[in-house]
Amino acid sequence: MTLDLDPYKDLIKQRCGLVLEGNGEDKLTTVLAQRIGVTKSGNSAEYFHRLQSSKDEFQDLVNLLTINETYFFRESEQLRLLTERLVPRLLRQRADGQPLRILSAGCSSGEEPYSIVMSLREKYGDDVSHLFSFSGGDIDTQALAKARSGRFSEFSFRGVGEHIKARYFEHDGWNYRLKDEIRERVEFHEMNLFAETFPAALHDFDIIFFRNVSIYFDTPTRRIIQKNLAALLKDQGYLVIGTAETLANDLGVLALVEEDGLFYFAKGQLPATAAVPRPAFDFERHVPAPAASPEPSWTWSDLSVYGSSAVHLPVVEQFSFDLARKYCEEKCHDEALEMLTRLLKHTPGDAHALLLQAHIQLNRKEFKRAEAGARQALQSDPWSIDAFVLLGLAAKWQELSEEAVRWFKQAVYARHECWPARYYLADLYRAGGEADKAQREYRGVLQLLSLPMVPDHGIKVLPLGLPHAELRFLCEHQLGKLGGTPQRLAGRK
Ligand SMILES: C[S@@+](CC[C@H](N)C(=O)[O-])C[C@H]1O[C@@H](n2cnc3c(N)ncnc32)[C@H](O)[C@@H]1O
Repeated sequence: MTLDLDPYKDLIKQRCGLVLEGNGEDKLTTVLAQRIGVTKSGNSAEYFHRLQSSKDEFQDLVNLLTINETYFFRESEQLRLLTERLVPRLLRQRADGQPLRILSAGCSSGEEPYSIVMSLREKYGDDVSHLFSFSGGDIDTQALAKARSGRFSEFSFRGVGEHIKARYFEHDGWNYRLKDEIRERVEFHEMNLFAETFPAALHDFDIIFFRNVSIYFDTPTRRIIQKNLAALLKDQGYLVIGTAETLANDLGVLALVEEDGLFYFAKGQLPATAAVPRPAFDFERHVPAPAASPEPSWTWSDLSVYGSSAVHLPVVEQFSFDLARKYCEEKCHDEALEMLTRLLKHTPGDAHALLLQAHIQLNRKEFKRAEAGARQALQSDPWSIDAFVLLGLAAKWQELSEEAVRWFKQAVYARHECWPARYYLADLYRAGGEADKAQREYRGVLQLLSLPMVPDHGIKVLPLGLPHAELRFLCEHQLGKLGGTPQRLAGRK
């Protein structure tokens, strides 16, 4: 069935701001096929009508479309900013003795608000229950149900030390259950950030965390949402946005402030101790301030997630590059190019920016421009694996097989473990009828991907998206077809 996605994309954007492009479109197609089947709708038009008229059906669809990626103590330097700077300042300023109200907007399955509670619990002990009130809000009702349950799998603990688990979680079969002393602190609410009005429970926050959500919106939507969040903040409130997203959210709604080398937004009177507040971020002239040394009173050294991670200095260029790469991964190529153009204006010849730009140009089949960018990057780094692979791909896509082989060989020469280049080489050999060489390369890739620690392929910039499992499958499949039975390799998963 061919689906016209446009009416669906428009309806979703209009109701909750989500922009579904690239991967988002693929996901929408899959999810629609599923929902049309489940609801026994005769065709797309019938389902669309149901979607427009049924709040529940719209909610079911949105639940399937949202991206809920999250984990405990994500971007922990911002949690440290919260506990060491923002909260102490607000506690000093507070005149009414009321608890400070903290919201995680777009809280997904709860890892973010619970990390906030645990962080403050480390600093303020049992006083947490009367000093603060915590809320989490999300449009995804299934994610909220999971958040309320307080049950998490190993996947939510990336980067968290065992002692955190031991202190705040109990084993629950294969999973972990958050102890009630933390779980009961957070109130979860259904919340559409794009709504025109919000219930009373979602007003008057001192601090709002809004991280890793804005990337799913375009700039006009981001501005509307930031205005909504600003309205939900108290006059002296703070808005903390994910590190890589901050610049793309400097929209003139709230003042951008830098402190300890980290950025956040402030409403009303700016904090006296904060470094150089600016109403709008001046990319051209900005020079980041040096990072402050960690406080001597720091008491979390037993939490490995913080222990060794002194506040690192976020460099403006790095922000822009990270954001551009994130956009690129999400296939928001226009936005990525916009960031890269600004970045290259500021630091002409930056090899990483040139390569990412070339990657987008390649995807748009602008071969000459992509090649020019990669060659320029080679001038500053003559052994850039990214540049070799990119030039190889450009030649391969133009069916210049010999040239493609030369570039991929160059990548393998520079880095033997560059298994993506070896995979592309294998494909080229196979297409060119050189079965022996193809088998050798497929086996080489299988061998590298079967090592207990898959080696670094040396590609730093290009978001190639070659999942190990799929690549292994493809290599085995091709080897089978070429008559070279894939070896059963030791240590395979
Ligand atoms: C990637 S998660 C981020 C989770 C967490 N803030 C973090 O940084 O780990 C993005 C969340 O934003 C939510 N979201 C997307 N659009 C929303 C909207 N219009 N209103 C409220 N939440 C939304 C999604 O449901 C999803 O759970």
